[in-house]
Amino acid sequence: MAKSQKQPLMLFLACALLMLTQEMPCLASSRSSSLVALADASNQTVNEEVEALLTWKATLDSQGRYALSSWNGSNPCSWRGIDCDPLGSITSLNLSNSAIHGTLRHLNFSRLPNLVALKLANNSFSGYIPPSMANLAKLAHLDLSRNNLSGKIPTQLGSLRSLQVLEFSRNNLSGPIPQEIGNLTSLLTLTLSENNFSGSIPDSIGKLGNLAILLLDENNISGFIPSSIGNLSKLTQLSLRVNNLVGFLPIGINNLTFLALLRLSDNDFVGQLPQQICGSQTLVNFTASNNHFTGAIPRTLKNCSSLCRLRLQNNLLKGNLTDALGVYPNLDYLELSNNGFYGVLPPTLVECRNLKSLIISNNKISGTIPPQLGNMNQLHKLVLSSNDIVGEIPKDLGKLKLLLELSLGCNHLGGHIPQELGGLPSLQKLEIARNNLSGSIRTELGECSNLQFLNLSGNNLENSIPVEIGELRSLQILDLSQNLLTGVIPGQLQQLYRLEILNLSHNQLSGLIESTFSDMVSLTSIDISYNELEGPLPNILAFRNATIEVVRGNKGLCGVIASLNPCTATTSKGKNKNKKLLLILIPTLGCLLLLLLVVGISNIVCRRSRKIETSWNNGRNGNLWAILSFDGNAVYKSIIEATEEFDAKYCIGVGGHGSVYKAQLQTGETFAVKKFKEAVEVKIASQKAFEREIHALIEARHRNIIKLYGFCSSSRHSFLVYEFLELGNLKDVLNDEKRITTFDWNKRVNVIKGVAFALSYMHHECSPPIVHRDVSSKNILMDEEYEAHVSDFGTAKVLHPYSSNWTSFGGTFGYAAPELAYTMEVKEKCDVYSFGVVTLEVIMGRHPGDLISSLASSASSSSSNSTNSCWLLKQALDQRIPYPDGDTLGQVAFNVMMAFTCLSAKPEHRPSMQRVSQEISACRSIMIGPWEDIKLKELVDPRCFPY
Ligand SMILES: *[C@@H]1O[C@H](CO)[C@@H](O)[C@H](O)[C@H]1NC(C)=O
Ligand SMILES: *[C@@H]1O[C@H](CO)[C@@H](O)[C@H](O)[C@H]1NC(C)=O
Ligand SMILES: *[C@@H]1O[C@H](CO)[C@@H](O)[C@H](O)[C@H]1NC(C)=O
Ligand SMILES: *[C@@H]1O[C@H](CO)[C@@H](O)[C@H](O)[C@H]1NC(C)=O
Ligand SMILES: *[C@@H]1O[C@H](CO)[C@@H](O)[C@H](O)[C@H]1NC(C)=O
Repeated sequence: MAKSQKQPLMLFLACALLMLTQEMPCLASSRSSSLVALADASNQTVNEEVEALLTWKATLDSQGRYALSSWNGSNPCSWRGIDCDPLGSITSLNLSNSAIHGTLRHLNFSRLPNLVALKLANNSFSGYIPPSMANLAKLAHLDLSRNNLSGKIPTQLGSLRSLQVLEFSRNNLSGPIPQEIGNLTSLLTLTLSENNFSGSIPDSIGKLGNLAILLLDENNISGFIPSSIGNLSKLTQLSLRVNNLVGFLPIGINNLTFLALLRLSDNDFVGQLPQQICGSQTLVNFTASNNHFTGAIPRTLKNCSSLCRLRLQNNLLKGNLTDALGVYPNLDYLELSNNGFYGVLPPTLVECRNLKSLIISNNKISGTIPPQLGNMNQLHKLVLSSNDIVGEIPKDLGKLKLLLELSLGCNHLGGHIPQELGGLPSLQKLEIARNNLSGSIRTELGECSNLQFLNLSGNNLENSIPVEIGELRSLQILDLSQNLLTGVIPGQLQQLYRLEILNLSHNQLSGLIESTFSDMVSLTSIDISYNELEGPLPNILAFRNATIEVVRGNKGLCGVIASLNPCTATTSKGKNKNKKLLLILIPTLGCLLLLLLVVGISNIVCRRSRKIETSWNNGRNGNLWAILSFDGNAVYKSIIEATEEFDAKYCIGVGGHGSVYKAQLQTGETFAVKKFKEAVEVKIASQKAFEREIHALIEARHRNIIKLYGFCSSSRHSFLVYEFLELGNLKDVLNDEKRITTFDWNKRVNVIKGVAFALSYMHHECSPPIVHRDVSSKNILMDEEYEAHVSDFGTAKVLHPYSSNWTSFGGTFGYAAPELAYTMEVKEKCDVYSFGVVTLEVIMGRHPGDLISSLASSASSSSSNSTNSCWLLKQALDQRIPYPDGDTLGQVAFNVMMAFTCLSAKPEHRPSMQRVSQEISACRSIMIGPWEDIKLKELVDPRCFPY
């Protein structure tokens, strides 16, 4: 075909030569007839081309036809998007960016024999790529990128031997990349990114020896990289990111010495990074994030002065970072988060004067923040959170006038917040949570007028909240929780009309707040729990929609929250009296029944207590418990009656020291009654202590702790009366195959959180601390929202109140901390261990026995096979529900990591439950950035994780 198209021109030249050099008798006639013939031939091709294009135009939508309104008449060379050769035949059709809808089905490619370039990028062409495109024998440049084309690449395109540029990126193409691609030996550029291609990269790609650009990112390509890539030694750009590629990189990748761009991120690669990656100093952009790469940063990267972007986050890389990086004058972006790098921040970094983003969170970086960072005046983003950085925040950071984000949370920074940070006019996010900062919150922070996110929680900041915070008009999230802040909440905060989330919990703030938040129209979430606030709550949406949790632990708040006392003039006065009322114990007929009832806020107790009295006075029609709480005998009787004296048919569970019965009283109220195996004998002398114990358990109120209403004992039976939860215990829920899919990852993460909060509350908010002693999936009850409620707190102690011999009770097998085997002392850290077991159980869907023993043995045999346990756990994720993705995956991974530390053999290596619940609530939000695209590979043993 190629030959026949060249014929008219050659004939013409031959003929002209003949005309000039030879004198022939019938020159004139012969000349004219030849020319006419040639012109006709040429005109015929052109006519065919015109016809083909106009036929196609007619199939386009009106917008497309409008865009091609210049396409009429017989001279296509003047039409939009068309170039011709000297004879008027079409060589190039370029309709990129023309908003044309249509298909290529009706374009007759065999009528466009001279086409060299076909560029239709960025339109809305749909349908298949026609195999007839293979007729474009001269085609050198084919660009169909950014359309809606679907189907496979026709294998016939393998015959386009002249093709140098093939661009199909950003369509919906699918199927495998055909082997025939290897026939396109002239190719310089091949881009197939952002389609749905599957299968593996064909071996034949190694034949494309001239290829300079190969972009396959964002497909579903799987398998290994074929070793024949190593042959593509002229490659300057190779992008494979966001596929399902696995395995080691082929050794031949070190042959690609001209690479300027190498993107391997978001695959499942293992092994080391390519060691010769910057052997010839051409590398500009290198991303290998979100894989399972191990080992250190390649040596050649150190002197790679051409480097502009380096992203290695979310791998299993480790090694001493101090000397691993060099000076990169052009470096613009550096991210190494979520690896195991240690050492101090490389001193050379401060010489990278063009660096805009420096992100190294979640490693084990130690040492201090070098003040010279303040000279990196292009810096926009400085993220060093979750490391082991010590010292103070250098005031020189105040020189970084372009800084948008400063995140230093979860380190060991001390000292004061430098006032110079107030001079950061562009700053949008300031996060220094969970350090050891002390002193006041600087009033200068009020000058960071673009601040949207401010988190200083979990420090030792004291004094009052500066009124200047009210100047931060862009603020959307403000978290000052868990500090030592005192004084009133400044009224100026209500100028923060963009604020959505406000957390001031766990401080010592005092005073009235009614008028404080009324103008904060955007506020959706507020937490002021555990302060010393009092008086009416402002009637704003955030409170109206809130639970009691967000105001718990204050001096006397009242108002809008449904379960909170309505405000009356006597509210705060009545409180103490009512608290005393709560303490009343009424032993009747040997039945010790405590004044139980209701939710944990004293105001409520007050309200209901009054009601109790009246309904008692009024007789039977009131709330059963209200009446019964003054009549232990009646309680006892109705429970015996409801369970037909503990008939087996009411039994809903059997535990270590008793059975649980469902007791539905005649009033319709349902309770769970835990009956002890033997009646508990309480000697009169020790009754006080016993009452105190029970009372502590009843007083301990938390949304994640099952409500204990009371305790009854007679010579025949002893039992605890609990609230009844419909779903039963966590173990049953995990074994309920029918409903297991409902118990999705979000619910599971929430269950873990609930248990952590409950334990933290009992260990750290109760004085003296209450140790559970028997945390297991059987002791965690589930309500219909799949919220966890820990039950049986301290039951063991109640059962054996004066026993110093804990061998009689060593927790549940498989959950009990190893030290219980040799120590009598039951401490909080035993609960932490059991919590670790339960966490893994929730994530794996079954008891993690094997995993724990393999962890224990790998920890003792140290090092090496860490990747094996990584893979092991990946399989251990509960297979009955779909794999978690996105943020949820990050949270699941985070919980696994946490569980591992809780399972440390030595109690002193386990975190406290307070730390755990802080990590869950505070640090998780810090981690959302770097963790958002975390992959299953992060589910690894503790040594793979910085903690
Ligand atoms: C086609 O032929 C006509 C005369 O028959 C001539 O005027 C016209 O220029 C030719 N077109 C081309 C593109 O050669
Ligand atoms: C590819 O090349 C091989 C041999 O070089 C040939 O046999 C085959 O027909 C070609 N395929 C296409 C589609 O051109
Ligand atoms: C690297 O390239 C050389 C020649 O350029 C070639 O001989 C060798 O096979 C290549 N190595 C690999 C592993 O592909
Ligand atoms: C490197 O990345 C930057 C930012 O994405 C980009 O502008 C530049 O073109 C890339 N360089 C190469 C060689 O790909
Ligand atoms: C890291 O390397 C530096 C410089 O070589 C060295 O001084 C430091 O001790 C190393 N740190 C660790 C933790 O090995």
